[in-house]
Amino acid sequence: MKKNYRKLFPMLNNQIVYLDNAALTQKPISVINAGSQFYKKYAISTRTSDSKLGIIVQQKVDLVRQKVANLLNGSPNEIIFTSGTTQSLNLFSLMAKQLLNVGDEILLSYYNHSSNIIPWLEIAKELKLQVKFSKNLVADINHKTKIIAYSQVTNNIDQHFDSDSIYQKAKQFNAIVVNDAAQAIAHEKVSFANSDIIAFSTNKLYGPTGLGILAIKQDILQSINPVIFGGGSVEKMIDVNSWCKKQTIEAFEPGTLNLAAIWQFEQALNLIDEITIDEIQKINLELANYLYDRLLTVKGIEIFSQKGDFITLFRIKNYAPQDIASYLGHKDIYVRSGNFCSKALSFAELENDYVRVSLAFYNNKNDINKLVKALKEGGDFLSFI
Ligand SMILES: Cc1ncc(COP(=O)(O)O)c(C=O)c1O
Repeated sequence: MKKNYRKLFPMLNNQIVYLDNAALTQKPISVINAGSQFYKKYAISTRTSDSKLGIIVQQKVDLVRQKVANLLNGSPNEIIFTSGTTQSLNLFSLMAKQLLNVGDEILLSYYNHSSNIIPWLEIAKELKLQVKFSKNLVADINHKTKIIAYSQVTNNIDQHFDSDSIYQKAKQFNAIVVNDAAQAIAHEKVSFANSDIIAFSTNKLYGPTGLGILAIKQDILQSINPVIFGGGSVEKMIDVNSWCKKQTIEAFEPGTLNLAAIWQFEQALNLIDEITIDEIQKINLELANYLYDRLLTVKGIEIFSQKGDFITLFRIKNYAPQDIASYLGHKDIYVRSGNFCSKALSFAELENDYVRVSLAFYNNKNDINKLVKALKEGGDFLSFI
C-alpha cells in the first residue's frame, strides 16, 4: 500500500491492537469530521426543504444514495436507508410476507447470522411455511424454494459460497436471493448481478454506526408495499380512512433519516474508492496468510479457518475461548469469542465457540506479532486472571 492509511484512523493510534473488524471497523478522520461538520454547519432536516441548507442536505442524501447504487450496480430508486443490517433484514422479511404462500419454503444457510435466521423463523411460524437449513444451498434449491437467505461472506467459518451458481439456480425456480452482505461489503464485490436483496451496515465499511442499507431490486420492489409508515412516505390521504404512498423510494423510508450518518458515510465510500476493494483484498490476503502461519506456532492451537481467510477462528487446548478473549482484551488486544450471533452453527459444526480474529486493511504484521506474543506468554494466564 503506497499511502499510510493506518494513520488516518485515530483509534488505532491509541496503542490498541484492533482485530475485531468483523464486528465494527474503525473510522477514518474524514468520517469523524464529517459528523461534526454536519452538526456544526448543515444540521437541517430534509423536511426543511424550502431553504438554502435544506436543499444542500437533500442533495447530499441523493448523492449518497446514488453512490450506494453505483457500489451495488443498482439504481438509486432501489436503495433504502435503514439503521443497519439487522433492521434491513427484518424489514425485508416483513415485506416478503406479501410474496409468500402456503407450501413455499425458505432456505437458510447454517452459517447465517441470527439477523438472517430469526426474522425468517418468525415469518414461517406466522404463515405456516417450511424453513430448511442447508450446508449446500445450490443443491437444496427446488421448486418449493421461494426465499434463499445467506451471507455472501460469513462472519464465522468462511464458506466460500459460489454466489453466481446460487443465483442462477434460484432464478430457474423464480426464488428470491437475500444476500446479507454485512461482511462481504468490506471485502469483495457485492452486486445485484447475483442478489435480489442486499443488506449491510455502514458501520462495517469504515462508516458510522446507526446507518444501514436495504437494496431491493426494482421488479420485487414494484410488487411489495412498505411495512412501516409515517411522515415523508405519504403522497396524500385519499379520505379519512385511506392514503397512498409516494411513488419514489421515500415511500419505504418514513421518519427522519440518520442524516449525520449519511454525511459521514459519503467519506467512507470515498475512502473505499481511493483504496479500491482489489487492493484491500490483496492486503488482507497477505496479512491473513501471515496470521495463519504465526498462529500455527502457538502451542495447543487448533485453527478452524482456511489459510488466507480474513476471519480466523481458533481454539487453544485446555482454555475456554472466552477466557482467551478476556485475557487478550485486558491487554488491549481486541478479538471476539463465542459463536458470533451465528446460533445455528452448533447444528453444523463440532465446536460451539471459538476465538475470532478478523482483519482489516489498516492492520499490520506488528498487530499480529503482538497477538501471537501475548498468546505465547499467556500459557498460564488462566491462573492470574
Ligand atoms: C453476517 C452478519 N449479518 C448481520 C450482522 C448484524 O449487523 P448489525 O448488528 O450491524 O445490524 C452482522 C454483524 O456482525 C454480521 O456479521
